[in-house]
Amino acid sequence: MMQNSLRYVLLLIALHTVWSDSCSLEITPARVVVAFGEPVTVSCVASRPVRVLGWESAIGASHTQRDTSVQWQVDSLIDWIEEPICYGVFFTAPRQCEEKLNLVLYKTPDSISISLVNHTGAVVEGREYQLLCEVQNVAPVQYLTLRWYRGQVEVYNHTFSELSPTTPVQVSSTLLINPGRAEDGAPYRCEAALELGPEGPQPPPRVKSQPITITVHYPPDPFSPEQEVVELVGGEGVVLNCSAGGNPPPSYSWSSPKLEEFSDENQPVLTAPSSGTYTCTASNLLGKASKTFTIKTKSKGV
Ligand SMILES: *[C@@H]1O[C@H](CO)[C@@H](O)[C@H](O)[C@H]1NC(C)=O
Ligand SMILES: *[C@@H]1O[C@H](CO)[C@@H](O)[C@H](O)[C@H]1NC(C)=O
Ligand SMILES: *[C@@H]1O[C@H](CO)[C@@H](O)[C@H](O)[C@H]1NC(C)=O
Repeated sequence: MMQNSLRYVLLLIALHTVWSDSCSLEITPARVVVAFGEPVTVSCVASRPVRVLGWESAIGASHTQRDTSVQWQVDSLIDWIEEPICYGVFFTAPRQCEEKLNLVLYKTPDSISISLVNHTGAVVEGREYQLLCEVQNVAPVQYLTLRWYRGQVEVYNHTFSELSPTTPVQVSSTLLINPGRAEDGAPYRCEAALELGPEGPQPPPRVKSQPITITVHYPPDPFSPEQEVVELVGGEGVVLNCSAGGNPPPSYSWSSPKLEEFSDENQPVLTAPSSGTYTCTASNLLGKASKTFTIKTKSKGV
């Protein structure tokens, strides 16, 4: 108990020491987030008598010898300047001190675009491709989040917090995709959001790319089963259906000893008039799949 309260008192003394050494300058607001070209006003107030109070800055520098308050004011902030500093020269110790303004000047991207790297046209199922999202002229990039979407689903995000420039830059993000047939026609897009903290605009400014639609080519689905025995009942013939998935849509061919009897052999559905073996092949530029139908005449009732 004793030890704990002693520690508490010592902590208070330590805090008090920090306070009396502190600058006696207060900047309000303490953090400002300004859009490129917008006005900004920040005040600096001294809490004890001051000889000179001023703002040191490449633009909007000012000072006063009478007041305990001075403003840093710019009508249209378009300079990628360092943080302005408020300084005070006092009658008593500490005789000089300064506070930096936490200033974030931001610029939303000029454009955002998405493309397939080194590829045009349809992609092939099972191969790997790269999608590239490029963002032009955005600052400060450390507050940027790039999000990738397939349809409405976020599939990946990329942040740039490790980068330091405060001036506008171009950045990009790459998404590796290995599209399957289920993704045929899926729209991909990317979106840049500047998340500037509570002092920044709410909701955070967002810029979206146009969607890019991926066409996925894949071979005809294998048939299951690949052999089928069908019984011919009556004299109507049997409908054989050989429709298969595939992109581009497969073309069909039928082969049979009786082939020349058929007029619609390039269709997936064939009406076979009599018993025999009929083989159908579905093919597109990526492959083929075959199925054999064996038609038997139903043996006369026993
Ligand atoms: C794209 O093509 C260029 C030139 O042919 C080549 O230098 C580059 O490595 C390719 N990039 C990818 C990701 O394949
Ligand atoms: C980024 O993606 C991860 C999962 O990969 C997710 O947990 C996180 O919330 C996402 N971050 C943002 C800022 O959306
Ligand atoms: C053939 O099969 C496909 C897929 O199973 C089906 O969509 C189609 O309607 C069928 N056609 C006929 C004529 O039965």
